[in-house]
Amino acid sequence: MSNDKPDSATNPAAKLWGGRFSEATDAFVERFTASVTFDQRMALEDIQGSLAHAQMLSEVGVLSGDEYHQIADGLKEIAAEIEAGNFPWSVQLEDVHMNIEARLTERIGATGKKLHTGRSRNDQVATDIRLWLRGRIDLIGAELTRLQTGLVDLAEREADTIMPGFTHLQSAQPVTFGHHLLAWNAMLSRDFERLMDCRKRVNRSPLGAAALAGTSYPIDRARTAELLGFDAPTENSLDSVSDRDFAIEFCAFAALLLTHLSRASEELVLWTSSQFDFIDLPDRFCTGSSIMPQKKNPDVPELVRGKTGRVNGHLIALLTLMKSQPLAYNKDNQEDKEPLFDAADTALDCLRAFADMVPALKAKKENMLAAAAKGFSTATDLADYLVRKGIAFRDAHEIVGQSVSFAIEQQKDLAELSLEQLQQFSTDIGEDVFEVLTLEGSVAARNHIGGTAPDQVRSACARARAQIEERH
Ligand code: ARG
Repeated sequence: MSNDKPDSATNPAAKLWGGRFSEATDAFVERFTASVTFDQRMALEDIQGSLAHAQMLSEVGVLSGDEYHQIADGLKEIAAEIEAGNFPWSVQLEDVHMNIEARLTERIGATGKKLHTGRSRNDQVATDIRLWLRGRIDLIGAELTRLQTGLVDLAEREADTIMPGFTHLQSAQPVTFGHHLLAWNAMLSRDFERLMDCRKRVNRSPLGAAALAGTSYPIDRARTAELLGFDAPTENSLDSVSDRDFAIEFCAFAALLLTHLSRASEELVLWTSSQFDFIDLPDRFCTGSSIMPQKKNPDVPELVRGKTGRVNGHLIALLTLMKSQPLAYNKDNQEDKEPLFDAADTALDCLRAFADMVPALKAKKENMLAAAAKGFSTATDLADYLVRKGIAFRDAHEIVGQSVSFAIEQQKDLAELSLEQLQQFSTDIGEDVFEVLTLEGSVAARNHIGGTAPDQVRSACARARAQIEERH
C-alpha cells in the first residue's frame, strides 16, 4: 500500500485488505458497510488498545524497541489530532480501526504496518467497546451516586412530611414524603448493584483472540489485559470475538434504570399538576406553552419518561442482533454500537437531569397533608385499634367499612365523626380512638425496619448514606 491518500474508487489495493480484490468497492456498498461515522467515538480507546498491544509485542520480541517507540509516538500524535478535531476521517477506510492504522502508516511510514501483527479487527473492536463501555459505566455510576445522595438528603429533610400513600392511585394510607423518596432510592440502589455486576463482565480483555482462533505469535494476553486495566483475559477465542453479552447486560441495566426513572417521572408529572399540587418544580426544569400563557409544563420528567422507550428498544435490538448468530464474528455485530452508545448516553443524560432536579424539589406540605386527611387513609388504623380491643381482624374490617360508609353519607372524614357516631358501629370504641385516627399517629405507629414512621425514615437515611459511602 502506498502512503498516499487511498483512492478506492479506482484502485482496490488502496484498501488495507485490498490485496485479493480486482474491482473497487461499489460506492454505495462502501458507505453501507462503513461504521466510521459512529465508531469514531471509540477512537481514543482504539489507540489505548493499540498502545498496549504494541508494548506487549515489543516485550515478547515481536517488535523491536525502536519500532514500538515509533508506533507509540505516532499513535499519541494521532490521539492529539483526534482530540483537537483535526483527524481526517475517511469513509473509504471503513471504520475507526483502519482509519487510525492508515493514518499511523501515513505518519511514521512502513513500521506502522507492523502494528496489526497478531491482532484482528475482531478482537480489536471487542476490546474497544469494552474499554469505552467501562468508561461510561464509571460515569454513570458517579451520576447515579450523585442522584442518590440528593435523594437521601431530601428524604431526611422530609422525614416528617405527611402525604397520602397510594395503591391503585387511590389514597390508601398516610406515609411520609421522606419514605416515598426512599422507595425511589431503593430502586436506584439495585440499579447501582446491577451496574457494578455488569462491570465485572465488561472488564475482561478479548485482545489476543485475533480473528477467531488466536494467533501463532508468542503473545502475552495477561500482559495486555493488565496494561488496559482489565481484570483478566477472556477465556475462549471464538467466544471472545463474538460475545456481546456484556453490552446486552448493560442495556438491561439501562432499561431497568430508565423504567425506574420513568416511574419517578410519572409521579413528578402527577404531583406538579394542579389536581395534586404536591410539589413545586423550579422553572428551570419546565417550559411554557406557545399558546396557553398559564402553562408550566414538567418537560424534563416527561422527556425522561419518554426516553425509556428508546432504551427498552436498544435492549431488544441487541438481543435480536445476537439471536442465532453462528460463531464467531459476523458483520452483524457492527450493529451493536449505535444502540449501546445511545443507551449509555440516554442513561447518563436522564441521571443528570434527575440529579440536578431532585435537590430542587419543594414539597407543598400543606397540600400533601390535606390530601392525606382526605380519602379515609386512617381506616386501617381504626381496624388495628379494634383488633387491639380484642376484635378479630375480619370483624374489625367490617365495622370500619360501615363507619366509612356512614362518614361518606355525612360528608366527613373518620376523624371528624363524634365518639357517639363511631360507637354506633362498635361499643369497643373509646375516647382514645382519636389518637389513632390522626395522620401523625398513623405514620408514627409504623415503627419497624422499612416502615414509614419518621424515626424509621431517619435511620433508613443513615443506612442509605452509609451504603453510598462504601462506594468510594
Ligand atoms: N467495524 C467492524 C465492527 O464494528 C470492526 C470489525 C470488522 N471485522 C471484520 N472482520 N470485518 O464490527
